[in-house]
Amino acid sequence: MTTLTTSRLWQPLGLGAVSLKNRLVLSPMTRRRAAADGTPTPLMAEYYAQRSGFGLVVTEGVYPSQEGRGYPNQPGLVDDAHEHGWAAVTDAVHANGTPIFAQLMHAGRVANLEVTGTETALAPSAIPFEDHHGRHSAHSTTAATSQDISRLIEAHVEAARRARRAGFDGVELHSANGYLLQQFLAPSTNHRTDEYGGSPHRRARFVIDVAEAVADEIGADRVGIRVSPGANIQGALEPDEQDVSATYAALFRGLRQRPLAYVSMIHPVAGSAVVQDIRRTSGSLMIVNTGFSAVTDRHTAAALVDAGHADAVAVGRAAIANPDLPRRWQTDRPETVPDQTTFYAGGATGYTDYLTDNAPDGGIEVDQPHHQ
Ligand SMILES: Cc1cc2nc3c(=O)[nH]c(=O)nc-3n(C[C@H](O)[C@H](O)[C@H](O)COP(=O)(O)O)c2cc1C
Repeated sequence: MTTLTTSRLWQPLGLGAVSLKNRLVLSPMTRRRAAADGTPTPLMAEYYAQRSGFGLVVTEGVYPSQEGRGYPNQPGLVDDAHEHGWAAVTDAVHANGTPIFAQLMHAGRVANLEVTGTETALAPSAIPFEDHHGRHSAHSTTAATSQDISRLIEAHVEAARRARRAGFDGVELHSANGYLLQQFLAPSTNHRTDEYGGSPHRRARFVIDVAEAVADEIGADRVGIRVSPGANIQGALEPDEQDVSATYAALFRGLRQRPLAYVSMIHPVAGSAVVQDIRRTSGSLMIVNTGFSAVTDRHTAAALVDAGHADAVAVGRAAIANPDLPRRWQTDRPETVPDQTTFYAGGATGYTDYLTDNAPDGGIEVDQPHHQ
């Protein structure tokens, strides 16, 4: 058995077109600190630079088109101002020799119409979002026409092009957590009767088309995809295990000819058949995160990599409060606890004011954030 300090987490990893200095990935996290028009702010550059000790930085979900905006102060990649704002972020992260991918997240039916300025949310089918608390996020939901589908694919391609111009090393397609791409995969949100709906194979087609088009544009070795098979988040229900296996097998068989750089998997049991089947079928490296129900701690992360279940591990909440998380874990130092009330609060508090542990190696001093 390996210990934390000798774990394979600290070994470098070649991931498609980039090289990671360790196998910890900053998990994509919406923090809502962009300007009202979606332009990334200097504060965001500071936040991501603080976390550049991770082997790979993946940004929060970024909208690839106006109608895909999910949240106020979510950053976008649809105009020149966005591109320039992101260039400051990628420069700041690259200064520490760390690659950075932009997560492209089209909200689909969970778009926020107050920020999209549109009258309706675009989705695979006209099935309005209602979560288990009865919360509606879209007043109206419209099934995408075949023209809309071409436009949606092109929006992802254009955002990927902008991402590269802004200095990103690649993009991650958000096909998890109930957003647009997963809405096509899930039988509960996709009732289409054309070539994009019905069988597992047809429900996988839109995601394949988006991934292939983006890979054509920037290279498959610069594209990752995030999936959460069977997760049942935001009403994108995938309750039938056999259907889940068939749908994700169709997706990754479809992409196998030209494997993507990585699959970022959200699943509570990384050693399970559904996860490892996807890993084999995809031919891509696998980044694992255990999901919202349990915080991904240092021992879980090391065990996932050392057991051979994953090539790398994505860490979310612990990285919010510990900008220097990889060093803390490697040297077995204590962690600061994140303050949930500031996850989406805007401003520097609970964002860039979590301090690094400046004690010399072997020390145990931990600076507390100002706001606690
Ligand atoms: C504040 C917050 C925002 C998040 N936003 C995103 C997001 O934009 N895209 C995404 O794929 N996952 C998002 N997630 C999920 C995380 O990437 C991660 O999968 C989840 O927090 C579980 O990992 P953890 O236990 O390490 O926190 C978010 C999580 C949190 C806590």
